[in-house]
Amino acid sequence: MRELAIIRDGAMLIRGETIEAVGTRSDIEALLTSDTHIIDAEGRIVAPGFVDAHTHLVFAGNRADEFEMRCSGITYQEISKQGGGILSTVRRTRAATESDLLATARKHASWFLRGGTTTIEAKSGYGLSVDAEMKILRVIQQTDANTPLRCVPTFLGAHEIPAEFHGRTPAYVELVIEEMLPLVAAQKLASFCDVFCEPHIFDQAAAGRILEAARRLGFGLRIHADQFSCSGGAKLAASLHAATADHLEHTDAASIAALAAANVQPVLLPGSVYSIGSKQYPPARAMIDAGLAVVLATDFNPGSSPIASMPVVLSLACTQMKMTPAEALTASTINAAWSLNLASQVGSLEPGKLANFVIHEGSDYREIPYFLGTQRPVAVFAQGERVA
Ligand code: NIG
Ligand code: FE
Repeated sequence: MRELAIIRDGAMLIRGETIEAVGTRSDIEALLTSDTHIIDAEGRIVAPGFVDAHTHLVFAGNRADEFEMRCSGITYQEISKQGGGILSTVRRTRAATESDLLATARKHASWFLRGGTTTIEAKSGYGLSVDAEMKILRVIQQTDANTPLRCVPTFLGAHEIPAEFHGRTPAYVELVIEEMLPLVAAQKLASFCDVFCEPHIFDQAAAGRILEAARRLGFGLRIHADQFSCSGGAKLAASLHAATADHLEHTDAASIAALAAANVQPVLLPGSVYSIGSKQYPPARAMIDAGLAVVLATDFNPGSSPIASMPVVLSLACTQMKMTPAEALTASTINAAWSLNLASQVGSLEPGKLANFVIHEGSDYREIPYFLGTQRPVAVFAQGERVA
């Protein structure tokens, strides 16, 4: 993860939406023809577009009110117990029209692109009914089709127990397994299935049933695991050979060993730790030392992480989790691409891959996490076109 394969005084030849050659300036200059259009990065860093492998792209409204409550000392979990949290966004998202949600999603897409992110994973999960989950997945599909941001869809119908199923978790699990998953599969609206695995929401047994059903239908698997307690989420991910286990703030050494043995990629979300005002960052160093291909992502959502900027996440990874800037860049590009089965197309600048790249301000990649809080991509390109 520390070897970035930097080419000094480098250049790329792009044809259409694809990278055709990568090398030193003189290698590439030898390939120029009279009609080649030249983009001069003027000695700046050129890096792959970020791949953000965990976002909740589609939601209505925001929770600035809960942000203020947390600032006065009430915790994220206390707000959830009082009927706020995810369920307050569910109420607003259910009430929103599909075209309103699409307009908001397009605005969010522009935030990602401006920060240098050209590919995201996008989860449903603020509908929690058959119709509302399908509505959100169609909005993700539309955002993918109608903006330059590539969106990989994930079905997260098991994000929370909706109010009308309060006290009847098994009945909601049945609805997810018997109705939602088959419909999402039939309409090909998601590549992955995710579950929020926590003791009082979907415990290990319920999460396991949903994910096994999803696997039988051909979905890849991702899990919100061990966010608030070490409750078997990571171990479940290992036993199912899931693509990823996400969050992992409370994951213990035995669970890390299980993830390594099963080749499950950890997706770490320091923006959500920061935003809920916790100090419990996931043990990134132990995971890297165990040989795990760690991924960094924003967890962009209206509650625990209103952050769409990957440079901010890289900065938090370096200062709070002691990852090196090189490790953070690897985790947010090629490792993230692997976790989405997209490593042959995005995540690095290599011949044959999509021309998704960012010209960053500065001449040293370490400046990306170092200068926190200013938008420093000078130009962002997706599939060969300038998009920000
Ligand atoms: O990844 N933990 C569950 N889901 C989100 C939070 C969603 C919300 O607060 O709206 C997360 O942190
Ligand atoms: Fe999340």
